[in-house]
Amino acid sequence: MTHPDNNSPLLKPFFLKTPVGGVSHMRRRRHTLPASEFRNLNPQDAISVFEIEREAFVSVSGECPLTLDEVLSFLGQCPELSLGWFEEGQLVAFIIGSGWNKDRLAQEAMTQHVPDTTTVHVHVLSVHRHCRQQGKGSILLWRYLQYLRGVPGLRRALLICEEFLVPFYRKAGFKEKGPSSISVANMCFQEMEYTLGGLAYARRNSGC
Ligand SMILES: CC(C)(COP(=O)(O)OP(=O)(O)OC[C@H]1O[C@@H](n2cnc3c(N)ncnc32)[C@H](O)[C@@H]1OP(=O)(O)O)[C@@H](O)C(=O)NCCC(=O)NCCS
Repeated sequence: MTHPDNNSPLLKPFFLKTPVGGVSHMRRRRHTLPASEFRNLNPQDAISVFEIEREAFVSVSGECPLTLDEVLSFLGQCPELSLGWFEEGQLVAFIIGSGWNKDRLAQEAMTQHVPDTTTVHVHVLSVHRHCRQQGKGSILLWRYLQYLRGVPGLRRALLICEEFLVPFYRKAGFKEKGPSSISVANMCFQEMEYTLGGLAYARRNSGC
């Protein structure tokens, strides 16, 4: 007898629905998958990452911040600088970062990971289209920045974004560093910086 999963595509359905008619293995699975989980990504997550990224960017600008090979490369080299948000085992949002070693981001930063540095380059933050405008992007970014504070040696995060997303990153605590020298397919970007020591310093000095 053919198992129904044998014909299923590589990516599972986005929302796990309650099985109609009671399929026992699916019911067991609903109990074992956490409702919500945050964890570092690994190369096995690359396809799910790229599916979300492709939908988010290709239809809008024709360009993805990271190709599938680059996703695989960064998740292989520096999984500790990524964070995924999973709901019932399905990836709903993610961030991918890598190490960088200069004051400002340069074109090589787009494809390179510099190990053992104080700066994280945040390449991409993306939320599944079914889950946007629900606060998930802001929450994931906040959790990522909190997480980075605990990674020894890290001092700041840098990213580039289009002008329309500057207010989003500003709300998360990033500050503008000015126009970036990086351009992709005639798009211009603002560079933004987040100081990882900032809040801890403020808390230490607030008497709380
Ligand atoms: C940008 C993105 C990560 C935001 O995540 P989200 O979960 O939808 O955002 P939140 O619900 O946490 O916050 C909503 C805020 O994000 C900002 N925002 C989101 N999408 C925006 C857009 N297309 N244009 C302008 N602002 C936008 C707004 O400030 C919005 O606040 P508002 O609703 O009060 O105007 C998400 O929309 C996404 O994945 N977009 C496609 C990929 C992308 O552009 N990634 C960022 C560059 S790497």
